[in-house]
Amino acid sequence: MPTVIAGNWKMHKTLREARSLAESIVEQSARLPAGVDVLLFPPFTALAVVSNVCRDSRVATGGQNFHPAREGAFTGEISARMLLDAGATWVLVGHSERRTRFGETDAFLGEKVGAAVTAGLRPLFCLGEDLAQREAGRTEEILARQMAGGLGSFGASELETLVVAYEPVWAIGTGRTATPDQAEASHHFLREQCVERWGATGAAMPILYGGSVQPGNAGELLSRSEIGGLLVGGASLEAGSFLEIAGAGA
Ligand code: PGA
Repeated sequence: MPTVIAGNWKMHKTLREARSLAESIVEQSARLPAGVDVLLFPPFTALAVVSNVCRDSRVATGGQNFHPAREGAFTGEISARMLLDAGATWVLVGHSERRTRFGETDAFLGEKVGAAVTAGLRPLFCLGEDLAQREAGRTEEILARQMAGGLGSFGASELETLVVAYEPVWAIGTGRTATPDQAEASHHFLREQCVERWGATGAAMPILYGGSVQPGNAGELLSRSEIGGLLVGGASLEAGSFLEIAGAGA
């Protein structure tokens, strides 16, 4: 199974900056060892340009968000067809910033997963507990609830292209990475849930870790058997640090 290294650029990069970053990543990614898949999630405005730069390379692109309706009166929203049209093959669903800052509920995220799969986009489904939940010993309960809420209505055949990303909220953008042991424990729990729900498909589903991943901790995280890749925010905004992280995935 390839190691997936994904860069979430969030609300960063103008068109010119995005093109230049994508060009550097594409050029340098050619030297990465086989078995590393690189994904970029640029802002919408740069998606078509970045997808164009990535064409015929080992780098794929995705949208950071979309609306599950096919089309219609949804001012400010982007559909799955629009993402595909811009060259994306992936889409983030359930990122904690969408859950907490934009009020996306488990039920809405489930709708998005279904719409993404139907449209032919691969969902990168994010979930994770916040600090209060962890400190109250509720991590597994929260992960199980997010899993059931977002993915519970799907059968294995619908989720063959789905990738999960465990992102503890307290580790996102804080510089406070989960220790490899903490990450592994949650990954192990998520794996059990996936296998219980979807059998062989669940056993094969890549589970990425995200939250303050840096070149200095990527190798150790990736050395754990259940960590199938990394979702990188801040450190994906420069080609050097992102490629160093991707290089640790070999
Ligand atoms: P971070 O973000 O690497 O800046 O912590 C990760 C994410 O939000 O996906």
